[in-house]
Amino acid sequence: MTEILLRLSSRPQPYPADVRARLEPDAKEIIARYPQPRSALLPLLHLVQSEEGYVSSTGIEFCAELLGLTGAEVTAVATFYSMYRRTPTGDYHVGVCTNTLCAVLGGDAILAELREHLGIAHGETTDDGAITLEHIECNAACDYAPVIMVNWEFFDNQTPESARELVDALRDGRTVTPTRGAPLCTFRDTARVLAGFPDTRPGVLDGEPGAPTLTGLDTAREQGMRAPEVPDEDGAR
Ligand code: FES
Repeated sequence: MTEILLRLSSRPQPYPADVRARLEPDAKEIIARYPQPRSALLPLLHLVQSEEGYVSSTGIEFCAELLGLTGAEVTAVATFYSMYRRTPTGDYHVGVCTNTLCAVLGGDAILAELREHLGIAHGETTDDGAITLEHIECNAACDYAPVIMVNWEFFDNQTPESARELVDALRDGRTVTPTRGAPLCTFRDTARVLAGFPDTRPGVLDGEPGAPTLTGLDTAREQGMRAPEVPDEDGAR
């Protein structure tokens, strides 16, 4: 109990001087994009996540100081969104969708297979630091269920076998390319891109929406449906 109280009352260690000297200009560049500093909190959390692989107490204090917020305010945001991790993360965050559609089409079986194959449970990381496994909520790729996301890139129409091959390739250090876009980079590099810094990987914007994604649009067009017109300020259409 005493130890817990001490931990709660002690302030986190600041970043070492060299890390701070590197992060602060990046943070100020992000903050300058917004009319209010506090509006930069989400990308700033990705920036600190790119430093340590998760949002540490040190990262939270860094964001709070630069944005004029309290540590409690930053913590409230960092713990609300599941893309911010509060514990160290492996090079590859493997998220298995187990929401309804993915689950019934095999997501639950994929998660069970990966837990068994990797010897870790939800939220844990393999001993080699390569893979962090999580079950995740719907990522709006239900038309390709069941899906796995690695560092937030989609791997469509997975099976227990393909999922096992995927994590084996990642652990072997092989180049792995998602269903759409460029070959994967590490979780920390991904976090830096999400903070708003350029993604220079070749092929990063490649890929078109596939037929399952466009089925609804095609059907609507065939049936002559149109989106409702937006009224102007006077209410006229
Ligand atoms: S239910 Fe899995 S992506 Fe929607």
